[in-house]
Amino acid sequence: MSRVVMTLIDACVFDAYGTLFDVHSAVGRLRGDVGPKADELSQIWRTKQLEYTWLRSLMGEYKDFWHVTGDALDYALARTGVDPTNIRDRLMDAYLGLDAYPEVPAMLGKLKAAGLKTAILSNGEPNMLEAAVNAAGLGSLLDEVLSVDDLKIFKPDPSVYQLAVDRLGVKADSIAFQSSNAWDVHGASVFGFRPVWINRFGAPVERLPGGAEHEMADLTGLPDLLGI
Ligand code: 2OP
Repeated sequence: MSRVVMTLIDACVFDAYGTLFDVHSAVGRLRGDVGPKADELSQIWRTKQLEYTWLRSLMGEYKDFWHVTGDALDYALARTGVDPTNIRDRLMDAYLGLDAYPEVPAMLGKLKAAGLKTAILSNGEPNMLEAAVNAAGLGSLLDEVLSVDDLKIFKPDPSVYQLAVDRLGVKADSIAFQSSNAWDVHGASVFGFRPVWINRFGAPVERLPGGAEHEMADLTGLPDLLGI
């Protein structure tokens, strides 16, 4: 079977939360203290975090991702009835050092060795992104860490994807964009990136405009897809 290769790619741009970093590793680290509702808490926390980004963008009421993440956690704690005392701030601290998915360092190393530009493009606030990148030891493997905070609006607003084009100095259709968040893949596709959906949880395709050029279950196969 002939190998499918993405050609004419100058840069690989990555979503951060959910794609490079496991957002559920924060609750996972404190599972014993959170108790039996840990998984429900983590799911509601993540869902509400993203909902708040979309709603704040639509309202023109931007607050940075650290603020939104805290608000979403407070909602999730209230919804699940988990006592926030002694746990809320520790969960927020854990969010600054989320686990990178195991395949990420080696994958980025291969891209860098092949001379590709690599970058994060994320809703994350700069300090929380820096903390996560440093905690995972990925700093030397990323040329840029780009945050929507410069724009005061969240993904999938087109200006976010334009930020990567401007900062990396490459054309949109020479950017392979990797995200586990399908809605982010569709936003990037409509903008003109060449998206690869990292479908980590076997989700069905979204009924949205645009779509992924390729789909894979994790990032292991990305260098191969790029012909590296
Ligand atoms: C990120 O921007 C969408 O939360 C995801 O990193």
